[in-house]
Amino acid sequence: MADGRLRFGIIGCGGIAQSRHMPSLSRLPEVELAAFFDPTPARAEAARKSYGVRDAGVYADYKALLQDSSIDVVHVCTTNASHAEIAIAALEAGKHVLCEKPMATTPEDARRMVETARRTGRKLTVGYNNRFRPDSQLLYQICRQGDLGHIYYAKALALRRRGVPSWGAFLDREKQGGGPLVDVGSHALDLTLWLMDNWRPRLVLGSTYAHLGKRAGSANDWAPWDPEKFTVEDSAFGFVIMENGATVVVESSWALNVVDEGEGRALLCGTEAGADMVDDGVRLNGDEFGQRYVKHLDVARDFTSQPPYGHELQCRLWVDAILRDEEPLVRPEEALVVTEILDAIYRSASSGEAIHL
Ligand SMILES: NC(=O)c1ccc[n+]([C@@H]2O[C@H](COP(=O)([O-])OP(=O)(O)OC[C@H]3O[C@@H](n4cnc5c(N)ncnc54)[C@H](O)[C@@H]3O)[C@@H](O)[C@H]2O)c1
Repeated sequence: MADGRLRFGIIGCGGIAQSRHMPSLSRLPEVELAAFFDPTPARAEAARKSYGVRDAGVYADYKALLQDSSIDVVHVCTTNASHAEIAIAALEAGKHVLCEKPMATTPEDARRMVETARRTGRKLTVGYNNRFRPDSQLLYQICRQGDLGHIYYAKALALRRRGVPSWGAFLDREKQGGGPLVDVGSHALDLTLWLMDNWRPRLVLGSTYAHLGKRAGSANDWAPWDPEKFTVEDSAFGFVIMENGATVVVESSWALNVVDEGEGRALLCGTEAGADMVDDGVRLNGDEFGQRYVKHLDVARDFTSQPPYGHELQCRLWVDAILRDEEPLVRPEEALVVTEILDAIYRSASSGEAIHL
């Protein structure tokens, strides 16, 4: 810490670091962006030039960055398979760590991350930034006030019609650990479990498909992808029964023949009312005075508006948690449960059996 400011290091200076982490962190007065590493050195150098403080450094590898004792906090923004190794090394080096989602590619790795954070006394959080959207924050308050009653059925929705990320390593199972399920499905599942405040899964059934990802010449939201490189699923679905009997359905895709797409959404059905996240806010439904009602709460979803609200609030509260020595809003134990369920969906899809957790 220098002059009461936290010094941050960024490991992995690609898309999400450039578009979200660095702009959000650079707007916080208590933060100095002071260290950068990427295997493509030009990316780290560009990051240093745009966001680095005067004495900021670019490092030859991530271990060298972690040896810099002036760095307090590290953001791990690398491909998924490297999250655990780097996050654990950073915690061992005494840094607080924000690791991008999904936490890790296996529950074992995610568990080691939680254990390392506990043992070292450093803080660990995971980049489930959808929780920080205005509509998510409002719906969370509504749920905690008990307006929905006991939530016993929910859907975690992350359906893209043709939205295959064609940059980076997203199509590579080795480097990412999976496709849309770990990418957009992980966000929707985290959001849904957080809104339900229910982190105890009991039984998981899953199915995955790869019909459309292997086809050339498809429409896409971004540049065309290379079907030869497509080694992950293009859609994945899960059916989860929680210890308290609640059911959570997970729907995720990058490519699916569906018209009503939408990601980062939860649909919740409780004993007193229901709620779902729509394009322009939150919709509540139920029955009052013997009549059905649908109420629309006009609150921004804020995926695209400037500045990047969800990420900015995530960074603001993360810095507060470090400075006040409080638990981060995304607790690593919760992110571990998400990884356990995703892994069980894949295991069930390949074995054809239900997985007991
Ligand atoms: N929270 C969100 O909404 C969100 C959105 C997009 C991506 N992500 C997550 O962020 C991570 C990165 O995604 P991206 O879109 O920025 O991908 P990207 O390919 O644009 O960037 C990844 C960067 O990490 C670097 N890298 C790869 N392996 C590394 C290693 N071992 N050590 C250091 N650097 C390494 C690459 O060179 C690249 O610059 C992924 O885990 C992804 O799931 C999160």
